[in-house]
Amino acid sequence: MKSDKIVINGGKPLRGRIEVRGAKNLATKAMVAALLAESPSVLRDVPDISDVGVVTGMLEAYGVSVTTTAEGELTFDPSNVEKAHFSKIDALAGSSRIPILFCGPLLHRLGEALIPDLGGCRIGDRPIDFHLDALRAFGAVVDKSYEGIRLTAPNGLSGAEIELPYPSVGATEQVLLTAVRAKGVTELKNAAIEPEIMDLIAILQKMGAIINVEPNRVIFIEGVDKLEGYNHRALFDRNEAASWASAALATEGDIFVGGAKQAELMNFLNIFRKVGGAFDIHEDGIRFYHPGGELKPVVVETDVHPGFMTDWQQPLIVALTKAQGISVVHETVYENRFGFTDALIEMGADIVVHKDGLESVTRRVPRRPLEQAAVITGPTKLHGADIRVPDLRGGFSHLIAALTAEGQSTISNVGIISRGYEHFIDKLRALGADFVYEG
Ligand code: EPZ
Repeated sequence: MKSDKIVINGGKPLRGRIEVRGAKNLATKAMVAALLAESPSVLRDVPDISDVGVVTGMLEAYGVSVTTTAEGELTFDPSNVEKAHFSKIDALAGSSRIPILFCGPLLHRLGEALIPDLGGCRIGDRPIDFHLDALRAFGAVVDKSYEGIRLTAPNGLSGAEIELPYPSVGATEQVLLTAVRAKGVTELKNAAIEPEIMDLIAILQKMGAIINVEPNRVIFIEGVDKLEGYNHRALFDRNEAASWASAALATEGDIFVGGAKQAELMNFLNIFRKVGGAFDIHEDGIRFYHPGGELKPVVVETDVHPGFMTDWQQPLIVALTKAQGISVVHETVYENRFGFTDALIEMGADIVVHKDGLESVTRRVPRRPLEQAAVITGPTKLHGADIRVPDLRGGFSHLIAALTAEGQSTISNVGIISRGYEHFIDKLRALGADFVYEG
């Protein structure tokens, strides 16, 4: 049996160069889009992460042949799409949230979709009501059964007027992947406009879709009868880039993140600079480093794009434990995304989580009912501990904490991290981390 743990001797700055490839949160959706085409698609810069493996398994279960045609390049041939055995998709769906995005493409291709219970990180309720309401608006009939959710479209799918209650990333993708082949025009209001969504729109346009992104989060999609395969290089993983940047800052190191680009990281770079980090923008990547001196506290609100991403707060909080003063991180996207701070507290961090948020603090965006706040008082010295990784981003922040800590830490369940961080063990090695991995 795999022990799946890493023993880290902390206190050494991370230094060196690593590369980031395509974004998990784009590549996996681009793979689903391939199902909509009549001809093969090619996706380049695909990261070697387990979430890509899960979506590959799902596509294969539906008869799509998935071939590695070059290093980091996958080709999808959807010419023989067929119904999948429930047991096959059920086994895969338990570890990811991507299966929900198969609904529209499967309804178009097969006339029905069966979606088992979903997995993904346990960071809140993560309901799928926006997805199901949107699918109903297109004309889908949703039946819940003991196996999961069964969708049919007895009268086909037609364009709809949809207004999302919140600019959800997944629900926006659901609407895009369904509307491109629905009859007529779809108007989507309050859409998410994350860079990964813009890249998905670029892919769909290459396939023959007609999509207009208008001001104020409005997207118009004119349905077409047929889509062809695409050839596309996936957008870089800005969450991974931001994670390594925070690792450079927290460990007082210097990391060149090859493949990282400025435009998609604007907001992160501002906060990174305010905390006291330095960065140099290059053609082929960004160098992130601790320039010496004290780190400064910040007040940050996570938000939908173009705000500060919820996936950036966990690694940053480790750096904030080193800052001189009180930092506040408001989590406004998920209702339970500070669970990872328990381990940091055990390691010596001074963090207080306010489960109902902090109403008294002036906020840029209005409070959401599910909001939480973490108050981090620094600087604190962290010491080694035995930790079990709870989720993807929280897990990466535990790695960083252990790397900054005095003494030895044992972190178990690190396999979760490979869901979204390509070859992170090799990268830690390349950056000079002192550890033993028992995979
Ligand atoms: C995507 O999740 C990402 N996952 C998340 O990254 C990321 O944190 C999130 O977007 C925000 O950017 C993938 O792309 C696979 P949402 P998604 O729908 O699409 C509520 C990571 O670690 N909501 O924008 O599931 C929801 O509960 C992961 O890489 C509903 O209420 O996020 C949350 O509070 C973690 N009903 C908010 O909306 C719904 O039907 C935002 O969720 C859907 C969502």
